[in-house]
Amino acid sequence: NEIYLQGLADHVPPFTTDATRLESVAESRMEPGPFGYVAGGAGSGDTARANREAFARWRIVPRVLTDATTRDLSTTVLGTALPAPVLLAPIGVQSIVHPDGEVATARAAAALDVPIVLSTASSYPLEDVAAAGGPRWFQLYWPNDPEVCASLLRRAEAAGYTALVVTLDTWTLAWRPRDLDQAYLPFLRASGVANAFTDPAFRAGLEKSPEDDQPMAILRWVSLFTGTDKRWDQLAFLREHWDGPIALKGIQHVDDARRAADEGMDAVIVSNHGGRQVDGALAALDALPEIAQAVGDRLEVLFDSGIRTGADVLKALALGAKAVLLGRPYVYGLALAGEAGVRHAVRSLLADLDLTLGLSGYRTPAELTPDALRRV
Ligand code: FNR
Repeated sequence: NEIYLQGLADHVPPFTTDATRLESVAESRMEPGPFGYVAGGAGSGDTARANREAFARWRIVPRVLTDATTRDLSTTVLGTALPAPVLLAPIGVQSIVHPDGEVATARAAAALDVPIVLSTASSYPLEDVAAAGGPRWFQLYWPNDPEVCASLLRRAEAAGYTALVVTLDTWTLAWRPRDLDQAYLPFLRASGVANAFTDPAFRAGLEKSPEDDQPMAILRWVSLFTGTDKRWDQLAFLREHWDGPIALKGIQHVDDARRAADEGMDAVIVSNHGGRQVDGALAALDALPEIAQAVGDRLEVLFDSGIRTGADVLKALALGAKAVLLGRPYVYGLALAGEAGVRHAVRSLLADLDLTLGLSGYRTPAELTPDALRRV
């Protein structure tokens, strides 16, 4: 209604409300390096394509004459109240696509009360992002140095991040041709790793300050987060240093989901990192039903990788996710129009979800079960 009413005064949205087209709109306006960083997948791009194809194989079977004329999309995940079952996925070094980076994203999300999950690789210090004041979780790339790890967790807790997301599928970067073709220059040029650079434990391991010796600082940063020796029993270290709930991100195998539950984790995020890590991996949506069925009663199951429309969110919820994380679409919004662009991209998805849920005959996300869908 808001968009149509504004149309009466000749106003049109700043860019398309269709996130399946957003990538091509962004491509026409972004520099190739930053665009490649966001759009790129591992290897041939097969997994990223599979993520989208998996959604097309599930179809919604709408119901009529139900009590769905007004909806309530709110839910609670890991103790955080959400206006709708959607969070913003952790995306590193957002200053590559817009100078305001994560601060703009956090402001847009805070205005909507939508939680952000801030990446360890944030271009802004996690304290500066927290100043936006919205609900927030912290995503950990688990560093090799326990002091840096403990320092990041201490800072995140002090800055009001209420849940920890530990990303396990990226202990080293995959073969990503688009980044390799660019020698990863956008990443290296971005003031990029400022969150790590401001960390006292990180700085203590350097001979000179990161500002005086950026190449050395970047090398230390990359080596901290590459080739780690992490195993299941080391989750105890994170429990020791983090008081809030913990989610493991990048889970695709049902046995890993079971192990997460056995280890007392609070959530798993079924995800293949948007197809950026294992070329040829299972579509994340195809991993979801089995995992939700196996562990859905023991921990919270979240989902990302391929969410573009309201229908996609509905399908993931019906297949057992409690909430989903939105990835690339909001970053294209950021690239196209900064804070206002993130706001527009997120609001478009939420409006699409609200209408699709209602027109399918459901009043709340909790009413969705696999019966809402048919596999074709
Ligand atoms: C990511 N992702 C990611 N995940 C994470 O845990 N920490 C990070 O720093 C990043 N950085 C990152 C950068 C970019 C440019 C992208 C596209 C993705 C993965 C992200 O959280 C999420 O899993 C995917 O984006 C989901 O896939 P779609 O829906 O974006 O295709």
